[in-house]
Amino acid sequence: MNFYILTLFPQMFESPFSSGIFKRAIERQLVRVSIHNIRDYTHDKHHTVDDYPYGGGAGMVLKPEPIFEVVESVKSGISLNQEDDVLPVILLTPQGHSFSQQIAHELSRYRHVILICGHYEGVDERVREHLVTDEISIGDYVLSGGELAAMVVVDAVVRLLPGVLGSEASLLDDSHTAGLLEYPQYTRPVEYRNWSVPEVLLSGNHAQIAKWRREQAILRTLKRRPDLLDKANLCLEERQIVERLKDSLS
Ligand code: 6GU
Repeated sequence: MNFYILTLFPQMFESPFSSGIFKRAIERQLVRVSIHNIRDYTHDKHHTVDDYPYGGGAGMVLKPEPIFEVVESVKSGISLNQEDDVLPVILLTPQGHSFSQQIAHELSRYRHVILICGHYEGVDERVREHLVTDEISIGDYVLSGGELAAMVVVDAVVRLLPGVLGSEASLLDDSHTAGLLEYPQYTRPVEYRNWSVPEVLLSGNHAQIAKWRREQAILRTLKRRPDLLDKANLCLEERQIVERLKDSLS
């Protein structure tokens, strides 16, 4: 999978992709990340990327020309296969759709994704209207630019790609994959400072363990993120358990 990140701050991307699972995924050629400096696509002496907003107001607005030109340049280097869908051109902005595990899964099916890091007070609206296919936000707070958000998106997508994680099975238990938070995990020692690992996990009874984990995931989700439970994939019996638990918590 190929990510093309368009940014005014290419230096910010020097370290995040050079350690851990990224480094391995890049070395094994499962992922390629290329960084493109929007400023390289300006034509004036001062390499101007922003300008005052028409109509007045605070802050600066990213000019359309360098952004159109960098996207067109990147696109011209990509040869899409017949089976490839349209190429996603995503603007990272606090005004975008909320990023989610589902969107990460959707993006993981593309061979090429272009990510544009927004900045300043915003980007010229014509970029939104005529260049980008989607806008993504990583949460309800404001960052100084889209760079950290682009890293978040790339990280969440890359770990879903086949062969990137050691064990694909562990993806199924991830928080948010089944619409629930993940169950509690323990490792050795079995007793630490008088705190013991739950007995059931030592039992070797796989059915009992699976049942306990499922209950813990539901309980944890109910306590911390009750908003997730409405959309979670629960069977009738589990729904009834949730209703009983809700009553006992209130
Ligand atoms: Cl994608 N960009 C910026 N600047 N702020 C954000 C964001 C993105 N997502 C949440 N806050």
